[in-house]
Formats: sequence, structure tokens, C-alpha cells
Amino acid sequence: MNRILIRGGRLIDPASGCDETRDLLIQDGRIAEFGEDLETRGAEVIDATHCWVSPGLVDLHCHLREPGQEHKEDIASGGRSAAAGGFTAIACMANTDPVNDEPATTDFIIDRARHDSPVRIYPVAAATRGLKGEVMTEMSALVEAGAVAFSDDGRTIMDSGLMRRVLEYSRLVDVPVVVHCEDRTLVNDGVVNEGPVSTKLGLPGNPAVAESVHVSRDVMLAEITGARLHVAHVSTAGAVETIRQARDRGLNVTGEVTPHHLTLTDEEALGFDTNTKVAPPLRSAEDVRACREALCDGTLDAIATDHAPHAVHEKDQEYTIAPHGMIGFETAVPVVLDLVRTGEITPIELVRRMSTHPARILGQQGGSLAVGEPADVVIIDPERNWTYDPAKGYSKSRNSPWAGRQLVGRTVATIVGGRLVYHVDRGVLVP
Ligand code: DOR
Ligand code: ZN
Repeated sequence: MNRILIRGGRLIDPASGCDETRDLLIQDGRIAEFGEDLETRGAEVIDATHCWVSPGLVDLHCHLREPGQEHKEDIASGGRSAAAGGFTAIACMANTDPVNDEPATTDFIIDRARHDSPVRIYPVAAATRGLKGEVMTEMSALVEAGAVAFSDDGRTIMDSGLMRRVLEYSRLVDVPVVVHCEDRTLVNDGVVNEGPVSTKLGLPGNPAVAESVHVSRDVMLAEITGARLHVAHVSTAGAVETIRQARDRGLNVTGEVTPHHLTLTDEEALGFDTNTKVAPPLRSAEDVRACREALCDGTLDAIATDHAPHAVHEKDQEYTIAPHGMIGFETAVPVVLDLVRTGEITPIELVRRMSTHPARILGQQGGSLAVGEPADVVIIDPERNWTYDPAKGYSKSRNSPWAGRQLVGRTVATIVGGRLVYHVDRGVLVP
């Protein structure tokens, strides 16, 4: 019998409300027992003294680049990087090459994930063919193949009539539509947040209203269609306000925020470091404050990394030319722990937003340590000091604004379906 005993950790389980020091026994892939001083009975013992023991983190939003751009990342390297970050399940966006707009591509991703990835991978299929925003994909066939949501992430569906139909059809297959809200005509050629920083740098600005105008449109369309709308990477106070009002009216609208939009402002771009270039852009301090408040008060349900790998030679160009995005799996935990250290959020509420809520939004298992559940578990040392070096991480890419920074808090171990897949002292262990 395969057993793991996690000894002496602070068990934080948002699903049951438990936040106490307990041992946890995993047996045959499932959560078997909690208690004090559980007997070892031949189990592999992991010491979790001073650590959090929580349901595995679930990332609603990442980019794995396979098929087609394996020089940036592939399902194996992305899966390993996710495991090292404490994620036990991740949802990957459709902007691969070819785009995940056909069941054969969804099948391919699921098959690759099964063989290559230590963590569970859920494909998000494109809402429109080729992400062109012109013709809808065949949603029922894609859901049958295993797609868990629809999104043209990376691009905004500008055609409001088409967006309405996407939302209508998504109801028939009962999956959420994840929207990337940036009005292209307002973004224009903007590469940093429009404001004093864009002026100082002499770079074209991307205004906050480009996001809020589209969040407003999509909320209105969600209201008339009754669809499940999920707003990706919310970055502005305006979008937060619109989502708050939508939820007060009882609409089926959820939202996520990234670690970078929770902690970094547009001033990070002042050194022209292209690792700060991301879509939507890093915003003003006021926007960051609004996003933090919204996450803590429940207006925004989840933290999602938007892990977006790009090769060194691609990022090593002028700010206006370099691609958008930053890697994020391995830094997410220490970066968002900042909200616990400042007292803005409790550990259990943070875990809820990184595990229980994203699992629920995706309609997948996870986010709970109830006895009998599949044993997807993360062990986090909230105090561990380390210096982040992307070259020592598992992603193929290195585009992180946190490269070289001293971080506090680290994933110690990740267990997926009862298998230890990562331990900080031993690295990624499978497959
Ligand atoms: O910064 C981003 N990078 N934002 C997106 O929406 C897409 C992503 C990517 O695919 O690189
Ligand atoms: Zn994305």
C-alpha cells in the first residue's frame, strides 16, 4: 500500500474551514486520515513542521506553448515548473500553434499531459477559430474532447454580436467563457500603462479604460445570456468596480488577478526591463490597491499566474517589440504571501483563492482535503528565504521580473493523486 504521512504541519483546508496543526495520512492516492501523532505504519514521512499543508494549488490560466512553440515551453517543462510552484492542476490557454480550436488538438494536449506532466492539465479551447474573432469553434465537440472552458485569451473578441453568441452557446455546454478584456482600438500600440510612466519613458500608453470598457460590455452580455463569464487578469480599479456591481446584482461573473498585478506597479517598467512587459500592463498604485482589496473582499475569486513563457532572444529586444508576458508558476506563492504578511488576508482565505475557488470555477475536483478525496496536496513554508534564479527553475524560459530577487515563502512539496511529484530538496521526481 502506498502511504505518505505529512507530519506536524498547519493544516489549512478552506473547504472544511480547518486551520489547525495535525498530521495527514495519504493512502492509495486519497486523503485517508487526520489526527495527532498518527502512527507511521510504513508510510513515507514528510516533516511539515512550521509549514502549511493545503489542498494543491489550482491555476486557472497559463500558457504551455505546446504544440508549436516548444522553444519557449512544452507540456513537460511547464508541468514540472507548475509542480515546483505547488500547483497540482493547471488550465492552459488555447494560443498555441496550431491554436487549440479543434478536438484533435485538445486530444493531443490531454494525451501529452498524461504522459509528460506531473500535474493535472486542463485544456481551455479557443472560442473562435484561429483566435481570429470571426467564426465560433465547435464547442460541444471540444467539450467532449475534454476542454474545460473557452477563451481567446491573448486577444479580445471585438465583435460584440459574436461575443454574445459565444456566451449563448457556452450555456448549452455549461462551461465558463474566460475573457481577455482589452479593447484593441483603445490599446492601439500601447505597451505600458498610460500615465506618468508612459510619458516619462516616451512609450505609447495602454489606457485603463481599454480594459474597463470591455469588462462592462461582457458583463452586460453575460446578464442577457445568463452565461458563466470569467474575467481573466483583472488589472484596473474600473474593472473591479464593474465586477463588484455585477456580483451585487447576482450575475454569474467571476474574476481572477495575477501575482504581478497584485504586487507590481507600472514603475517597474522605468528601467525598460522587457520582463515587465505584459498584457494587460502593470498599472498604477491605485489600481494595484483596488485589485488587492477586491481579492481580499471576495469580489475577485481567484489568483491565476498567467504564466507566459518567452525565449531570451525574444525578450531581448526593444520594449516596443518584445512579446508580452512573464513566467509565474515558481514565484506565485512567495509573491502573493505578501498579502498575508501585511495582514490583508488570512492564510485560509488565500488558499481558498488559489485552490478551492479556481477548482470550482473550472468545474473540476480539488480545493479540498476531505477524507476520500484524491490526494492533491501542497506543503508551503511561509518563512523560507531564497533568491529566485529562473535558470535554476523548471520552465524553459527565464522572463521573470523577480529574477535575482530575495523572496520569502516557498513550496516545499507537491503531491498529485497521492504521488510525491516535487520536493524542494529533491527537485521534480516524476514522470
Ligand atoms: O502577457 C500576456 N502574454 N498576455 C496575454 O494575454 C498573452 C500572453 C502570452 O501568450 O504570451
Ligand atoms: Zn494569458
